[in-house]
Amino acid sequence: MSASTPASTSVSTSGQTAGVRLVVVHPDKEVLAQAAAARLLTRVLDVQSVRSPVHVVLTGGSVGIATLAAVAASPLVPAVDWSGVHLWWGDERFLPDGDPDRNETQARQALVDDLVAEHGLPAANVHPMPGPTSVATPEEGAAAYAELLREHAGGLPEQSEGTVPVPAFDVLLLGMGPDGHVASLFPGHEVLAAQGTTTGVHASPKPPPERVSLTFDAIRSAREVWIVAAGSEKAEQVAAALADGPVTEVPAAGAVGRARTLWLLDAEAAGATPAK
Ligand code: 6PG
Repeated sequence: MSASTPASTSVSTSGQTAGVRLVVVHPDKEVLAQAAAARLLTRVLDVQSVRSPVHVVLTGGSVGIATLAAVAASPLVPAVDWSGVHLWWGDERFLPDGDPDRNETQARQALVDDLVAEHGLPAANVHPMPGPTSVATPEEGAAAYAELLREHAGGLPEQSEGTVPVPAFDVLLLGMGPDGHVASLFPGHEVLAAQGTTTGVHASPKPPPERVSLTFDAIRSAREVWIVAAGSEKAEQVAAALADGPVTEVPAAGAVGRARTLWLLDAEAAGATPAK
């Protein structure tokens, strides 16, 4: 059983009207991951019926990776034309290729390698953020990723009018930390003010200290932003974000999609009292 709060519109901190916000609460983390996976596959299928390619931004974190594993196990995987899908990342830990703590490595193991090997996802459509295997610093990695995003930004009318040189992300997935961070945008950190579409991150309060992240401008350019969060340790910041708390204290409050922002929660993260 899942519960939804009524849809509402919200206004982002930068002042532009954001899309509809919807909060969906699932009983526990496992059901949340299964439901988010079903929703993601359905969304990709729906988008594919009207345009191609489809751009999806992946996240790390336990719920994010559990969602990808649930996608991999779904009988709907072959329904998607994976040759028309591009996969991006919202942030990455600045660690060597193949490091088990890289968001990329975890996503590859949970889903992406299988899509490439068995379901026709072109390896060239997988766009991990660079790490120390290929660049010297997080800033270099961020610059290289910004250029890649720019190369894939062209063609769509909204992008030629728009100010953000990134693809029109159809779904941008984000986990949220107990401190309210999304991607590698941490509360009280100078990275919150980063300009452009990507940024290097130093002195992250969550290890490892060096990272690469999308900026708020890049995140807010997405058609849909989906924030997945589970566990009672998230409840306070979920509530603060849904109350449109200050982005400097609750970065997740600034993660809004142009058309829609989905909060996909388990009951604990939603602050529900456990059933007796
Ligand atoms: C990272 C992760 C991080 C994660 C959240 C939620 O790079 O460290 O991407 O942003 O998504 O911390 O993680 P959990 O779902 O494991 O709480």
